[in-house]
Amino acid sequence: MAEARKLYIKTYGCQMNVYDSERMAEALGASGYEVTDAPEQADMILLNTCHIREKAAEKVYSELGRLKPLKAANPDLRIGVAGCVAQAEGEEIMRRQPLVDLVVGPQTYHRLPAMEAAVRAGERAVDTEFPQEDKFEHLPRTPRTRRAPVAFLTVQEGCDKFCAFCVVPYTRGAEVSRPVERVLREARDLVERGVREITLLGQNVNAYHGAGAGGTWGLARLIREMARIDGLERIRFTTSHPNDMEDELIAAHGDEPKLMPYLHLPVQSGSDRILKAMNRKHTAEQYLRLVERLRAARPDLLLSGDFIVGFPGEAEADFEATMALVREVGYGQAFSFKYSARPGTPAAERAGVPDEVAAERLQRLQALLTEQQRAVQQGMVGREVSVLFEKPGRLPGQMVGKSEYLHAVHVADPLAVPGRIARVRITQSGPNSLGGVMAT
Ligand code: SAH
Ligand code: SF4
Ligand code: F3S
Repeated sequence: MAEARKLYIKTYGCQMNVYDSERMAEALGASGYEVTDAPEQADMILLNTCHIREKAAEKVYSELGRLKPLKAANPDLRIGVAGCVAQAEGEEIMRRQPLVDLVVGPQTYHRLPAMEAAVRAGERAVDTEFPQEDKFEHLPRTPRTRRAPVAFLTVQEGCDKFCAFCVVPYTRGAEVSRPVERVLREARDLVERGVREITLLGQNVNAYHGAGAGGTWGLARLIREMARIDGLERIRFTTSHPNDMEDELIAAHGDEPKLMPYLHLPVQSGSDRILKAMNRKHTAEQYLRLVERLRAARPDLLLSGDFIVGFPGEAEADFEATMALVREVGYGQAFSFKYSARPGTPAAERAGVPDEVAAERLQRLQALLTEQQRAVQQGMVGREVSVLFEKPGRLPGQMVGKSEYLHAVHVADPLAVPGRIARVRITQSGPNSLGGVMAT
């Protein structure tokens, strides 16, 4: 048999892109490709890109510039751009960067094998359609060679919310939920390959409404059914919109033991005026009441959030309202960003906040969020958590895994092996991870 061609994929952006990259590798695996982590050895390089903020989109062009010498050294190398920049800019990428052979959007990558054959034959190929067919049905099943004990599983894609700042509804298209049986089949395949934790993914994962036995299933019902799979020990889901947090899902946090006590629940701002301008369709108070109900169901729930500062029209008082909301909620994890005007979104038409004002607010918000994160981590010291070990840590003999609260935990113990879940007593808290010892 001919030696396998080598595929190098670089992934930017959200977890859904991580999932997509894995599926693209599987799709091209069927065309004889095998993944390499050395770009200079690759016959095909794919950049799986993100369009969410200006900086993210710019990275693609600078990365493409860096690939030039590789292409010069190896004329057989083919370069592709996938993901949300591909979707948003399509042909424009081809024009700006002649070294790109292939552009494929997030909804058409199941067509990669045919596109690959075309670019091998010397053509340039662009496919950024939103096709009728379901790409998942045209992708290979999880290969037997899959090894990691944790996996992402996309159950819902796209977004109909149209927050005024966001490109996702344009790059990923309308909300679509995968049918229940197909999701469960993929979950069972993963578990058969040794996966013990699955994170269900969707841009609005809690808006999931898949066709299932007897009608339409919501996310809570899907999670409960999935929890019945033997060998699957942990379930997570991300990202949720506050307005889709239905009662059943809140209840599942209280009584479904396999559902982990961690929830990413972005609010973006604590000011009702700004929330309205953002088209988030809820108030700060509604968000706070929701958090209350979630914590009543699961008191140790660790909350994570996303925030945007410097949204057009944000006054100092609006920003102070965000700070007040953060103080009230107390986040264990958070991501905060300076507003970035995105072409084609409604907010891009509005006058922005001066950059230095936004930068200063971001700094203040991040200081508060970091302080909260540190305090939560510090509070873990002395406690026992359950850790699913994933891979070797940085120091020799160390393994790293995740606690139920999604904290990275390092343990040096021969019993800490990938795929094992163990009780660990936390002994120290570092800036980005915890350290501990086996408790039993
Ligand atoms: N579907 C998720 C968010 C996806 S984008 C949700 O609704 O919460 C991830 C995060 O990027 C968002 O939560 C938001 O905080 C940030 N983001 C999105 N568009 C942005 C923009 N134009 N400028 C700055 N941050 C943005
Ligand atoms: Fe973007 Fe809003 Fe949809 Fe999230 S809910 S993906 S922020 S439009
Ligand atoms: Fe980025 Fe697309 Fe995800 S824009 S955040 S990669 S959905």
